[in-house]
Amino acid sequence: MSRLRSAEWYEGDDRNAYIHRAWMRRGNPEDALDGTKPQIAIANTASDLTPCNMHLNEVAESVKHGVWAAGGVPYNLPVVSLGETQVKPTAMLWRNMAAMAMEEMFRANPVDGLVLLGGCDKTIPALLMAAASVDIPAVVVPGGPMMTGYFRGQALGCGTDVWRLSEEARAGEITGAQFLASEQSMIRGKGHCNTMGTASTMAVVAEALGMTIPGFAGTPAADARLLALSHETGKLIVDMVAAERTPSRIMTREAFLNAIVAVAAVGGSTNSVVHLLAIAGRLGVDLTLDDFDATGAGVPVMANLQPSGAYLMDDLYRAGGVLGVLAQVRDLLRADPITVTGRPLVDYLDDRPVYDADVIRPREEPLMADAGIAVLRGNLAPRGALVKPAAATPELLQHTGPAVVFDSIEDMRARIDDPALDVTADSVLVLRGCGPKGYPGMPEVGNMPLPQKLLAQGVRDMVRISDARMSGTAYGTVILHVAPEAAAGGPLAVIRTGDLVTVDVENRMLNVAVSDEELAERRASASTEAAYAAPVRGWARLYVDHVMQADTGADLDFLVGSSGPDVARESH
Ligand code: FES
Ligand code: MG
Repeated sequence: MSRLRSAEWYEGDDRNAYIHRAWMRRGNPEDALDGTKPQIAIANTASDLTPCNMHLNEVAESVKHGVWAAGGVPYNLPVVSLGETQVKPTAMLWRNMAAMAMEEMFRANPVDGLVLLGGCDKTIPALLMAAASVDIPAVVVPGGPMMTGYFRGQALGCGTDVWRLSEEARAGEITGAQFLASEQSMIRGKGHCNTMGTASTMAVVAEALGMTIPGFAGTPAADARLLALSHETGKLIVDMVAAERTPSRIMTREAFLNAIVAVAAVGGSTNSVVHLLAIAGRLGVDLTLDDFDATGAGVPVMANLQPSGAYLMDDLYRAGGVLGVLAQVRDLLRADPITVTGRPLVDYLDDRPVYDADVIRPREEPLMADAGIAVLRGNLAPRGALVKPAAATPELLQHTGPAVVFDSIEDMRARIDDPALDVTADSVLVLRGCGPKGYPGMPEVGNMPLPQKLLAQGVRDMVRISDARMSGTAYGTVILHVAPEAAAGGPLAVIRTGDLVTVDVENRMLNVAVSDEELAERRASASTEAAYAAPVRGWARLYVDHVMQADTGADLDFLVGSSGPDVARESH
């Protein structure tokens, strides 16, 4: 092992080394700071306002025991946390802020290794972006999904069933009181959403990238094995420091391609696209939107999980877990990328029995063939848009209909249920002003509600198009992440109600039947900017001035790349 990074702080007889050591004694053993023991930060996103990560302090204790047991010295490092359901206007507005704050604190402090404790949607992405930019050995502890809740004897999928029940209430199929009664049963205990939403997806991503102990992702938050694996992770990070196994050695381009395969195989969230692009950007890995289509499109969905399928994360765990799913698509995975253990991911796919073939489908009987995330392009999305065919209505994947355009989320809410709104099941609902700059923060509003009068007629899905994201727990024929967004001058800004829009997923096309000349003319005369955010100060100002578009990960332009682990100057 070469000299520890922390020795820059603790080694020597000078006044600065004295200061660094003296203030950290606090009851630690005499030899804790002797310059030979890896100093491990447990980057902890526990917060009472991030309900899905509330339990991570207990997890951190298990990690600490593991670090001590392996001869390291652990430190709890609370970092910026984001609760998906709590913060407004959207947690995505602060993913980059969290990542920037984490990166800076990792670099500024005397640490040799990082254990990254995440859970709720944005926390694992932000932690991985930060670890990538500082490139100090790091390993993820995924906080785990919650146990399944039940309402009137039926399992409830977090998020997915909120969308379903609220539409049923709007359609008059259940009463408002019944809808509200389900609230008590939705969230049963510690952990993140129990569907294959964004949190579950990003845990799978972390594992497929090689950044967790293989077999960790999907371990339920309440399961004792989560604490045992956390203990093991604490031991492992001490070895990783000795082996100098840094994020850039694990998260190679090939590892990203494995993550794309994994997301497709579990029917994962569209949000993983912006997160993977952003993480890759921090590493200088050449990953583009087209890689998602090229690598993911032929991958079958093997996991029968909501929102694409029927089951929940607890079912996946008992059926054989994430590795059980990956074993089904082993032939599509790259063999070279290593994991945090130093061994390739594929080494962990031998002997992975499946205990419930309805939850983890056999390769010959996938939930859906060829169903990764599809990237659409055309004169409505020159730099791309996404759709998740597994969550869509097959007949709508090829569709032409007149646009019904909303300038903002407020405009949509004000008019969507108006009985006079000129809309039919064939209409294409278009929502703009909801991209990274426009909102700001690219919220999960792309799965806009259907007009009540159509719900009453039994319509349950329509083509919807926006520059927003959608919750990983949502479903429908929803075209998302249109780039450039309206607020960045994309064609979405000048589409009008009545324009004919064609979606052709098979041919990867998204077009509006308006000529280039007409679009240019409209652009010259259009003025919808009043609907776009224009923050004057603070983070939101910095964000809109520097955020990139969805097709390149929506990171801030000046955060792309790595600054590495070094700090040149002393503090005193
Ligand atoms: Fe935290 Fe869904 S709200 S994971
Ligand atoms: Mg979400």
